[in-house]
Amino acid sequence: MSKKQMKGIVLAGGTATRLFPLTATTSKQLLPVYDRQMVFYPLNVLVKAGIKDILVIVAPEHSGQFLNLLGSIFKNHGIHLYFEVQKVPRGLADAFIQGESFIDDGNVAMILGDNIFEDDLTSHIKNFSSGGVIFAKQVPDPERFGVVDFDAQGKALSIEEKPEKPKSNFCVTGAYIYDNRVVEIAKNLEPSIRGEIEITSINQKYLEMGELKVNTITGEWLDAGTYDSLLAAGNIVRDKEIYKNFDPLIDQAISEFNAELKAIAKKKLL
Ligand code: G1P
Repeated sequence: MSKKQMKGIVLAGGTATRLFPLTATTSKQLLPVYDRQMVFYPLNVLVKAGIKDILVIVAPEHSGQFLNLLGSIFKNHGIHLYFEVQKVPRGLADAFIQGESFIDDGNVAMILGDNIFEDDLTSHIKNFSSGGVIFAKQVPDPERFGVVDFDAQGKALSIEEKPEKPKSNFCVTGAYIYDNRVVEIAKNLEPSIRGEIEITSINQKYLEMGELKVNTITGEWLDAGTYDSLLAAGNIVRDKEIYKNFDPLIDQAISEFNAELKAIAKKKLL
């Protein structure tokens, strides 16, 4: 059997009210993290892993800005970006319903648009065959996240969304790899008490089926959800030189984009 194609999704919707007024004028995922927009980080995870087709899910109020930045940036680099507008954020799992025709019969790797990983997830994406794969990281405040609990052998026992009493301090980060069954699983989910269809419910389903692999990561993992963590993200990326870990393709695309903008600006001055 030939290996199924791996599709990529960057989920960059939402209104990020915690970051107002910064996110009153642009999307959170378009805010700068040191020398480039945040969204390049999740894009890099997918591009580095050799994924050629990537769906970017955006909020309607920022769709034009996403298109201005990303609409043609990879056109000479063999990466095809597709855009979809998510009118109402219905939860992370909704990405697989919104993305159904894009995913087609492929497998899918989804990265949240505000997640920055220092670890390289390439081998996990490239070597994926079936089931679900997620990445857990030890954090001081697990109650803010999905939490995974392990037995002594490191086997995942349970996953809970924002539990009051977390069973461990391993949180589920915003990178998920699933086989094609994820679309049907997402379609059959009931909304949680916060009215969303939860990615945690998808992970619980794969766990029940005995087909969820939980990897632990040790490098920096940042989700710039507050003023402080946004500032910290920029500083960490600069100080630890995480911005140097980009696929050369992305660096090249960004410098071409910059050169184009400069040339246009110059013309306007003439
Ligand atoms: C979401 C998921 C949660 C996960 C987190 C990672 O939380 O529901 O399981 O740990 O992303 O960033 P949310 O950002 O929707 O609160």
